[in-house]
Amino acid sequence: MRVDAVTLFPGMIDGPLSESIVGRARSEGFLELGFVNPRDFTEDRHRTVDDKPYGGGTGMVMMAEPLYRALKKVRKRGSCVILLTPKGSKFDQAAAVELSKKKHLVFICGHYEGVDERVTPLADLQLSIGDYVLTGGEPAAVAVIDAVTRLIPGVLRKSDATVNETFGDGLLEAPHYTRPAVWRGKKVPEALLSGNHRLIAQWRLEQAQALTSAERPDLAKPAKKKAGVAKAAKH
Ligand code: ADE
Repeated sequence: MRVDAVTLFPGMIDGPLSESIVGRARSEGFLELGFVNPRDFTEDRHRTVDDKPYGGGTGMVMMAEPLYRALKKVRKRGSCVILLTPKGSKFDQAAAVELSKKKHLVFICGHYEGVDERVTPLADLQLSIGDYVLTGGEPAAVAVIDAVTRLIPGVLRKSDATVNETFGDGLLEAPHYTRPAVWRGKKVPEALLSGNHRLIAQWRLEQAQALTSAERPDLAKPAKKKAGVAKAAKH
C-alpha cells in the first residue's frame, strides 16, 4: 500500500512510524510512506502557509492554495483522500479494515486552528480519532496509518493475529497472561492452564462478553453513525 501525508511537520509522522511493526512493514515494502509539505508550494518570500481567520478570532488557519497544490502533487486516480479533523466521523476498527483494502491513501493534516473550509471538498472522507483536540492532524494520521498497516496481509507474522482481537467481533478481548503461572501471589486463571482448547475458547468468550458489557456496553449496540469509508472514495 502507498500512503502520502500532506503535512507541515513530516517528522511528527515519520518518526513514530519508523519504529516497531510499522517500521518493519516499511523496510519490507508492505507500506510505502511519502510526505509532501505545503510550504514547498508557496510563492512568497516567507513561504506563508497560514493566515488570520476572516471574521476574527484566535489562532491561524491553513491557507487553501498550498494545500491544494501539495495534494495535486500526490493525488492519483483511485486515491482515497482523508482529511483529519476533530469534526470528522469517528475512526474505528471497521474503518481501518475498509482503508486497508485501498491501494493509495492520502492524509491531509491540518495544523493550528484547522484548514480553510474550501479545502474540505477535496477530501473523500473526514476522520477524527476521538473527541479531543490535538495540536494537528499528524498524531491522528499516525494512529490511523498504524491501525491500517497492521491489517495489510503479511505485515503481522502470525496470519491469524488480527482474527480474534478486540473489536473484530464487536467485543473487547479477553485478558492475556504469560509466564510465570504465579506472579507475586497472583495466579493465571485455571482454564488457561488446562490445555483444553474448547474450555479455553469458552473462558475467553465469557470473559470478553463480561468485559464488554462492564466497560463498553455501547459496542454491543449498533453504531448511530458510520464512517462510510467503503463508499467514500469517489475520485
Ligand atoms: N486534529 C486535531 N484533533 C484531531 C482529532 N481528534 N482527530 C483527527 N484530527 C485531529
